[in-house]
Amino acid sequence: MNKPNLCIAKDRKKVKIEYKEQNLELKPIYKGKKYFLRTYGCQMNVHDSEEIRYYLESLGYEKTDILENADIVVLNTCAIRENAKDKVFGYLGRCKHLKQTKKDLIICLCGCLMQLPNEVEGIINNHKFVDIVIGTHNINELPKLIMELNNDQKIEVYSNSNEVNENIKYSRDSKISAWINIQYGCDKFCTYCIVPFTRGRERSRKIENIIQEAKELKEEGYQEITLLGQNVNAYGKDLNLGYNFATLLEEVAKIGISRVRFVTSHPWNFTDEMIDIIAKYDNIMPYIHLPLQSGSDDILRKMNRRYNKEEYKNLFTKIKEKIPNVSITTDIIVGFPNETEEDFQDTLDMVDYCKYDSAYTFIYSKREGTYAATLEDKISDEEKSKRLQILNKKVNAYALEANKKLIGKTVEVLIIDKSEKGEDKVCGYTDTMKLVNVIGKEYLIGKIIKVKITDAKSFSLDGIMLDN
Ligand code: SAH
Ligand code: SF4
Ligand code: F3S
Repeated sequence: MNKPNLCIAKDRKKVKIEYKEQNLELKPIYKGKKYFLRTYGCQMNVHDSEEIRYYLESLGYEKTDILENADIVVLNTCAIRENAKDKVFGYLGRCKHLKQTKKDLIICLCGCLMQLPNEVEGIINNHKFVDIVIGTHNINELPKLIMELNNDQKIEVYSNSNEVNENIKYSRDSKISAWINIQYGCDKFCTYCIVPFTRGRERSRKIENIIQEAKELKEEGYQEITLLGQNVNAYGKDLNLGYNFATLLEEVAKIGISRVRFVTSHPWNFTDEMIDIIAKYDNIMPYIHLPLQSGSDDILRKMNRRYNKEEYKNLFTKIKEKIPNVSITTDIIVGFPNETEEDFQDTLDMVDYCKYDSAYTFIYSKREGTYAATLEDKISDEEKSKRLQILNKKVNAYALEANKKLIGKTVEVLIIDKSEKGEDKVCGYTDTMKLVNVIGKEYLIGKIIKVKITDAKSFSLDGIMLDN
């Protein structure tokens, strides 16, 4: 059996990055067989799953959405909070059950959870029916592991990586909107967060390769690209080649793709140069996800967020002033160890100040291996749930208020799919990333159309198409 590298990536030293051209030649040797792929977690994982899908399809597997029909099941896991883990193990129970009647079923676990030594040990000891475990740094080894599979569990996880693979092929979810990785890993070490341990040191891709990928996507007819990184502002810093995120954003905008987006930007080091570039180009969308996490200076310091509330407010105000019509969303954690009533009130005050277009809110979840996990916490779970409810009420009220301002206005919507809100409807996103359900037919999918907003809810808008 392969020996897993069961060591959490604690090494904070900068690494010298090695770029590798990937050239896998895969044959469709499993033609007629089916794969079932389930993705948990953030956009990184969603995009990684597009790589996994490419490998599975190149090996001849066909997609199924029905677990029972699968010959191989791949669960791409997330470790960000305990409930993300619970979901995976809940589903794994179903897979185990299926394997009892379908002996040839291959079960593969990959993604962030598999970077954690305790979890891998648990799989080795208690979940012997799992066939393959790979980590986030070696997704490209999946085809090899499938082909080499015998009766043993194959565990192939590397604790860290100094590599950036280029020329990765994807089987993308959409023909309209595409992700582009610009950077891997994260060096910020926010004290509550497991990502630096599951994704390794920050590694930027070279600008010329990103531009090339964006050009190819434009030629393929994509309307929208989203530049992806845990902290896009830090793009290029590790390379020291004289370019940064603002340079990259401008170069990508110049390619002329209809919509350029990016996610996520940290409030720390969000430069004026970046704001100016976003404001200058019509095809860089006026939408910024700017995670606050907490409104309390004390908690922000304990979280190692590198900004205080005054700096966040100044940045927020500057962005609002300089980028016309910008919408700003955020992430907030309640119940960080020993968060006081006053700390929580500071967060509520910040929400009152920023009146976010929308916010993702979370109860702090202890992640083994992080600094915050070593802190004693005196706040009860009941108190944390109460705070979350109060926060959500406020956040949702502001989201509704922001959406209501759009009633009667005309907006441009990129239609991406049929709507769940009725047979006669399609749905898509405004430039400011608001979901709109529009009366219209499927031929509109992939088009940017003018829509008059007729109604607003907290999480979506309704509209009718205008003559385009
Ligand atoms: N790189 C992004 C965040 C990625 S994780 C950024 O810094 O903005 C997405 C969100 O999950 C975070 O913004 C944070 O709000 C939340 N999160 C991360 N770790 C968490 C934890 N231990 N408990 C609860 N929420 C957490
Ligand atoms: Fe986690 Fe902080 Fe990195 Fe975001 S910036 S991924 S919250 S460590
Ligand atoms: Fe994303 Fe979850 Fe990993 S949020 S980076 S998939 S831990």
